[in-house]
Amino acid sequence: MSELTEIRNHEEIDSIKTKRHKGCLNHPFYDWITLLSTLFVPLVVGILTIVLPLQQQNLSNRQNENSQTIAVHNRLKDMEILHDQQKQTILNTYEQDLCNLIFKYSSINNYNDTNNDGIDDDNDDERVSLVIRTKTLYALRQLDPVRKILLIQLLIDSGIKNRINLSHLDLSSLTFPPGSFYNQLNFVNIIAKNLSFKRIHLYRSNFSYSILDGSSFQQSNCSYADFSYASLQRTDWTNTDVTQVVFNYTNLLGAKITSQQLATVQSLKGATLPNGTIVAI
Ligand SMILES: *[C@@H]1O[C@H](CO)[C@@H](O)[C@H](O)[C@H]1NC(C)=O
Ligand SMILES: *[C@@H]1O[C@H](CO)[C@@H](O)[C@H](O)[C@H]1NC(C)=O
Ligand SMILES: *[C@@H]1O[C@H](CO)[C@@H](O)[C@H](O)[C@H]1NC(C)=O
Ligand SMILES: *[C@@H]1O[C@H](CO)[C@@H](O)[C@H](O)[C@H]1NC(C)=O
Ligand SMILES: *[C@@H]1O[C@H](CO)[C@@H](O)[C@H](O)[C@H]1NC(C)=O
Ligand SMILES: *[C@@H]1O[C@H](CO)[C@@H](O)[C@H](O)[C@H]1NC(C)=O
Ligand SMILES: *[C@@H]1O[C@H](CO)[C@@H](O)[C@H](O)[C@H]1NC(C)=O
Repeated sequence: MSELTEIRNHEEIDSIKTKRHKGCLNHPFYDWITLLSTLFVPLVVGILTIVLPLQQQNLSNRQNENSQTIAVHNRLKDMEILHDQQKQTILNTYEQDLCNLIFKYSSINNYNDTNNDGIDDDNDDERVSLVIRTKTLYALRQLDPVRKILLIQLLIDSGIKNRINLSHLDLSSLTFPPGSFYNQLNFVNIIAKNLSFKRIHLYRSNFSYSILDGSSFQQSNCSYADFSYASLQRTDWTNTDVTQVVFNYTNLLGAKITSQQLATVQSLKGATLPNGTIVAI
């Protein structure tokens, strides 16, 4: 065989290769387009018939979910309203009971009764006070902050607050309405952390033995108040009138009170100052 035949063989192979290629795409381009376009519509219809119901299902599922969320939301709202009404009922009942109980005080009713043998009346009054204390503590435990304040104000306005032993009352984190007149308030031995007493008149009030850490007395008038043995750590006394205040054995660690203010108080016997120094007894 010569080289020439070899070359021819090569050419043949090449031409066969190209023919094979052509065989694969042996339809012209136009045929393909026609085929695709004829297939396209049924294909799309087919896909849509499968996908559309699925989507609808999805949609209705989502609608279901939505309506379920709305239902839960409504239910929560209903419960909130119910709880709110219950709290209002508790407050209203307390007010009614308080009014009825105040009339039971013998020393108010029979103030000028000449026949009274003092002791019995005192016992009766003590019992009335005890009932009011119990009802007060019970109601306070169930109320929200706003109604707690309303209840305390009710007690203050009734004028009997000093006859009730409010010991161990928990008034933590409450905010009393600024500008209130609570002069001669008797908050002995109560728990009231983070209380807000801003711009309140607390002249001659008594907070002895109370825990008032983190509370604020900003701009209030605390003149002549008694804070003996109270825990007043981190309390705020910015622009507070502390004239003649009794701070005997008080803990003022970290409190915001100036030395000018401390110079106006009545006594700091045994007190812990903001910087940790303990005043000599
Ligand atoms: C008690 O009696 C005195 C004198 O009779 C009278 O001035 C006073 O107002 C009476 N007090 C009350 C609370 O009724
Ligand atoms: C008030 O109640 C507390 C606890 O019940 C009691 O320890 C305290 O002596 C009472 N204070 C007065 C003035 O009755
Ligand atoms: C009081 O406030 C402090 C600091 O803001 C906080 O860490 C603490 O838990 C609060 N205490 C109460 C009883 O709310
Ligand atoms: C404040 O209350 C305490 C405890 O009841 C009492 O010992 C103290 O005398 C009162 N302070 C004043 C200034 O009345
Ligand atoms: C605080 O109240 C007392 C008694 O009402 C009053 O005499 C005093 O001037 C008041 N202090 C301020 C700074 O208003
Ligand atoms: C506070 O301490 C001073 C100084 O010892 C004393 O004169 C005063 O009676 C005390 N006040 C109270 C309410 O205990
Ligand atoms: C703590 O504060 C008091 C009053 O402001 C001051 O007299 C005393 O020197 C201070 N003590 C220290 C150790 O800084």
